[in-house]
Amino acid sequence: MKLGIIGCGNISDIYLKNLTTVFKNVTVQAVCDIDTAKATAQAQKYHIEGVLTLEEMLADPEIDIVLNITTPQTHYDICKKVLLAGKHVYVEKPLSLSYCEGKELLSIAKEKGLYIGGAPDTFLGAGLQTAIKLIKEGAIGKPVGGAAYMLCPGHESWHPSPEFYYDIGGGPLFDMGPYYITALVRLLGPVKSVYAVGTKAFAERTITSTPKFGQKIPVKVDTHNVGILSFENGAVITLVTSFDVVAHTMPNIELYGTDGSMKVPDPNMFGGSVQLATRKEQQFTDVPLISRYSENSRGIGISEMILAINENRTNNASGELALHVLEIMEAFLKSAESGAPVFIESVPSPEIALDWNVEIGELKTRN
Ligand SMILES: NC(=O)c1ccc[n+]([C@@H]2O[C@H](COP(=O)([O-])OP(=O)(O)OC[C@H]3O[C@@H](n4cnc5c(N)ncnc54)[C@H](O)[C@@H]3O)[C@@H](O)[C@H]2O)c1
Repeated sequence: MKLGIIGCGNISDIYLKNLTTVFKNVTVQAVCDIDTAKATAQAQKYHIEGVLTLEEMLADPEIDIVLNITTPQTHYDICKKVLLAGKHVYVEKPLSLSYCEGKELLSIAKEKGLYIGGAPDTFLGAGLQTAIKLIKEGAIGKPVGGAAYMLCPGHESWHPSPEFYYDIGGGPLFDMGPYYITALVRLLGPVKSVYAVGTKAFAERTITSTPKFGQKIPVKVDTHNVGILSFENGAVITLVTSFDVVAHTMPNIELYGTDGSMKVPDPNMFGGSVQLATRKEQQFTDVPLISRYSENSRGIGISEMILAINENRTNNASGELALHVLEIMEAFLKSAESGAPVFIESVPSPEIALDWNVEIGELKTRN
């Protein structure tokens, strides 16, 4: 299938690299950016024929799917335009800034018989797939509880344009929460309710990266969010996301079950180490990973969406999953504001099992 990419910023390199050289069922036909110089530079670097405006891309009959990797504030507008133009869309996280907008995107896609997919796709990597398989096989028994921590000092020291991280739709929850919440939903199933609080260390941040060194950013969102997620399966998980932590020793994700405990790898990565401790052997030991996708495989979600389109089945990094994650993140904010738990109504699509006995660049549905 032929793909058009909108947004040629920081994250576009890994997508362009993987979609032009790794994944075999996709051809990058054209790129687009409001900053034409950025689009032209990426087209030259990755040998892509077309540099188009948004309108040209939407009107191009050759393009079947659009990858929207613009900043979160434009995800909804661009996805809506893509769907209304009759093309499938895959969008970076978050799906949109509000659950209401996300629902509208899904309903347009459904009405038009189009696919919608959303990042992150890291749960299709070797690390999380191994952890998910172990949980499904009952390796820790019935999951009871756990903790997940995404703690860092923020992104203004390295990202060249970090303003969006502190704007509405940013913050550690909307930026990094999708990795953690998506992983937890794939590990444990749908979330039933959220109870959360939030705070922020600074009202203003100073950029220390180039080229905007010294520029001030107003902080419009909480930058330290603490929440309790109650899952339909009975498990209760604490999730902390923060841009206010200089250093720490907390794990990425740990899960505790009736028969054991599991250390889950960093959900922002595709590989990592999965460790299991059982009631019998109480030491954590490494479990071998079940697939070859351990390197940065961003784009695997799009390649898998194309496989799903060809097989007329649900895609794994689906709009329903991204919408469930978005509703959960919004519930963090609502709960922090009201002081009450918030109940979740959306349901993620089920995970479609893949056969991991394939070479890098290939994907196969398990029979
Ligand atoms: N940077 C990372 O490490 C990283 C990692 C994973 C996911 N993401 C996600 O990827 C997305 C993009 O992040 P980024 O870091 O590449 O941001 P960025 O600011 O570096 O790039 C965004 C690009 O989109 C372009 N753009 C904005 N509005 C547009 C429009 N209306 N039409 C066409 N182009 C438009 C901008 O000119 C810019 O080049 C975000 O949703 C972010 O959460 C980023």
